[in-house]
Formats: sequence, C-alpha cells, structure tokens
Amino acid sequence: MVSPELSSSFHTSPMANNLRHNARTKSSYSFFVDNFLLAGSALLAMLVLWIFYSFMGTTTQNQDSTFSNPIDSNSKSTITNNNNIQTSGFSSGLEFDPPDKTFYDDPKMGYTMETKIENWDEKRKVWLKKHQSFASGVEKRVFLVTGSQPSPCKNPIGDHLLLRFFKNKVDYCRIHGYDIFYNNVLLQPKMFTYWAKQPSVKAAMLAHPEAEWIWWVDSDAAFTDMEFKLPLERYRDHNLVVHGWNNLIYEEKSWTSLNAGVFLMRNCQWSMDFLDIWSKMGPQSKEYEKWGEILKTTFKDKIFPESDDQSGLVYLLLKEKEKLGGKIYVESEFYFEGYWMEIVGKFDNITEKYIEIEKQENKLRRMHAEKVNEAYGNMREHYLKDVGFGLMSLRRPFITHFTGCQPCSGAHNQMYSGQSCWDAMNRALNFADNQVLRNYGFVHQDLLDSSTVSPLPFDYPA
Ligand SMILES: *[C@@H]1O[C@H](CO)[C@@H](O)[C@H](O)[C@H]1NC(C)=O
Repeated sequence: MVSPELSSSFHTSPMANNLRHNARTKSSYSFFVDNFLLAGSALLAMLVLWIFYSFMGTTTQNQDSTFSNPIDSNSKSTITNNNNIQTSGFSSGLEFDPPDKTFYDDPKMGYTMETKIENWDEKRKVWLKKHQSFASGVEKRVFLVTGSQPSPCKNPIGDHLLLRFFKNKVDYCRIHGYDIFYNNVLLQPKMFTYWAKQPSVKAAMLAHPEAEWIWWVDSDAAFTDMEFKLPLERYRDHNLVVHGWNNLIYEEKSWTSLNAGVFLMRNCQWSMDFLDIWSKMGPQSKEYEKWGEILKTTFKDKIFPESDDQSGLVYLLLKEKEKLGGKIYVESEFYFEGYWMEIVGKFDNITEKYIEIEKQENKLRRMHAEKVNEAYGNMREHYLKDVGFGLMSLRRPFITHFTGCQPCSGAHNQMYSGQSCWDAMNRALNFADNQVLRNYGFVHQDLLDSSTVSPLPFDYPA
C-alpha cells in the first residue's frame, strides 16, 4: 500500500539536513561545468558559488498511464509472427522489428526538448503491441540514465572517479537485468549543469518504449546495496518518485527538502508534459530569469539567484499540489539516495552485521552464480526485517550520494577537505565492489585500498 506520509524525519537528523543544505549552497559546479566555462557566460561566477550535481527531469497532467494491459486480443497475428521469430532463436526480440508504422515513422516526431510529444501513452502501447517480446514484464522494466560532461574533468582524479561511479552503476544494472545509458553530451546546448538531465530523460523515454521507468541517477551517486530493488509496487499510482521529506517541502519550504539528483520517472504522457512544465524554468527558456526571481523569493534558504531544477521541482510541489502533486511520490522510507556524510561512517558496522547474518545462514554464504543473485537478496530480507532503514539502521544504504564533493571538477564544498571526500568515495565504492566481487571469489580487506583483493575461502564466513 502507498503510505506517502510515513515518518519523514526518520533517517535524517536536523544536523544532517543542515549539512546537506550547506553542501548544496556553497560549493558547486556540476556536470557540465566545463562546457559552461567555455561558454564564458557572466553567470559563471555565481554558478561557481553553488553546488550540486544533479541533472534531472519532471511534471504535468493527471493521467493514468499505467500499462496494466498493453496487449489486447487483436494482437494475435503479431504474437504468431514474433513466436516464429522466437522459435528460430531470437527469443529476446532484439532482431525483430516489423515493417508496420509506429511513432518512429512520423516525420513530426523528434527528440528535442522543443518537440512536443502527444498521445505518448497510445503510441507506446502500439509499439509494445508490435513487439510482444518486450510487452511481457514491461511494468517492471527500468532503464537507468546517467551522465557527465563532454570534456575531461578538471580534478586530476576526476575521470578515474567517474569511471568507478559508472562501473558501480553498470554492476548494479547487470545484477538486476537493467539497461543503462551514459550520456556525456548536452542534448539541449543551453541546458547545462543540472538542467542537462531533463533532455537526457526525454530522449531515453522515446528511445526505450519497452521501459516503463526511466531512472535518473547522478554521476556522483553510488549504489551501496547491490541487492536492494526499487519497491515499484509502492509507486503503482505515481509517475515520478523523488527522495524528500514532506514536512520540509510543505512546512519549511526549503529548496533542499528533496533531492533532484536521483529520480524515477514513468515513461508516459504525464511525464512528457511534466518535463515541459519543469523545463520552462530552465536556461533555454525565455522565462529563466523570471523563475530565478520567483524561486529565490519562495525559498528563504536559497542564496543563489538562478533558477535550478531542484528548487523548480519543490516549487511545483508547493504550488501545483492539486494538479501535479498527486502523481509525485516523495520517498522518505529508505535511502532512495542518501547524503554521504551521514552514511560512510557506518560501513564497518554494517559489514559486521552482514557477516553475522551469513554466519547464521549457510545458503547466504555459499557461493553462487551472479545471475541468480536476486534470489539471495530476497533470502537475506528475512534476516533484515528488524533492522529498519535509515540513519540508525545497519542495513546497507541503497544509494550514497556525494553531494558537495564534486568529483569531476574537484571544487568541493569548503565544509570538508578534499581528502575526506576522496576517502569517503573510495570507501563507498569499495564497499559496493565487495558485494560484487564476492560472486567472483574476492574481497577488498581494506575499504581504502582499491588495488588489493584477497581470495575468499570456501564457505566464508562460516
Ligand atoms: C559501531 O558499533 C560500535 C559498537 O556497537 C559503536 O560503539 C559505534 O558507535 C558504531 N559506529 C557507528 C559509526 O555507528
């Protein structure tokens, strides 16, 4: 059942909120900052003041776009066709595209932010009908999108870090059978930094009609629980999921009441419309400056004058609650993404907890093929049911987000040292890598030592 009001402060202390807030207000730059620098805009000096790291996308009408039954009885001939193909060995349907016309054949169809997409639910449904092998299981199909700037990172180890963050996402996706797209170009040249994610998400929706959900994950966020899966059932009646806290949105009216760096968006017309509305606040829009003023006035804690996508999203929740809010799920029950400062100190204790569980359950410690890893994640839930989620929990945090660390530019927030960011990223990435390497028979003994592994003994940790 959907319970959007569940305690929103559970896993975030006021202290952590302040930290997060400061992290976002002081340092920053983001993904496409180098590009932006080249553009030589006067805005740059201000941009540098703030922070972030996110790109992302979002919101509009109330339309139920769930694909409960994308296939109807008229589609038998396609099924037959496809089955023939399948029996000849292409069971995934990857080599099958019937000659019938779809939205791809419409000359007015386009992927740019300026091209309006209409009747997307119907068009997607038609495409699915003609591609039966993708129609089955569509509700659970998630497509991950991430990315970074087109040019080399300023931080000498920035590209190394981005590679490891990307490897981490590829690992997660492989384990769960998700596809992933890494975009490193501005699809709308004016939508730089955190505004670059909206065009990426829109293009991904059109390129992947087989995916029900598009999952934007910032380049500086790492999966630190390789087993946990999104509770999609909980989002059945929603089209956009973000990590946030309702009291901070509606009572505190804070621009850091949610995080726009990780979000899940249903591949549907509502999302197309939402992206239009949201993007109106972006730098490619005639209304950009106006929105900067509106957002700055609305959020007392926003110190920089430019319109940013995160404030824009909070604004839409505040002002368009009736029209849009009903389809937006503000997730606060688990680390849909979590602030690294409140997470990384717990890795050793969490590791101990999991070893303790594996000592009790021989099936969990016995090696198995990576392909069947999800079965063991499900099995482990039995042992985790009492540990809870969030700040005080010894459950692995799902996603650890390095807000304010700016791995690519190196322009980290002055609140912490570059060393503390680097150590924390290293530890989180190796903590995650240990969960992957286990299936390959090895382990990093020291989370700060990325280069060294030891073989795992049979039946470890019996
Ligand atoms: C880890 O566990 C120990 C022993 O229970 C405890 O004293 C310590 O505070 C814990 N560390 C963290 C960061 O939670």
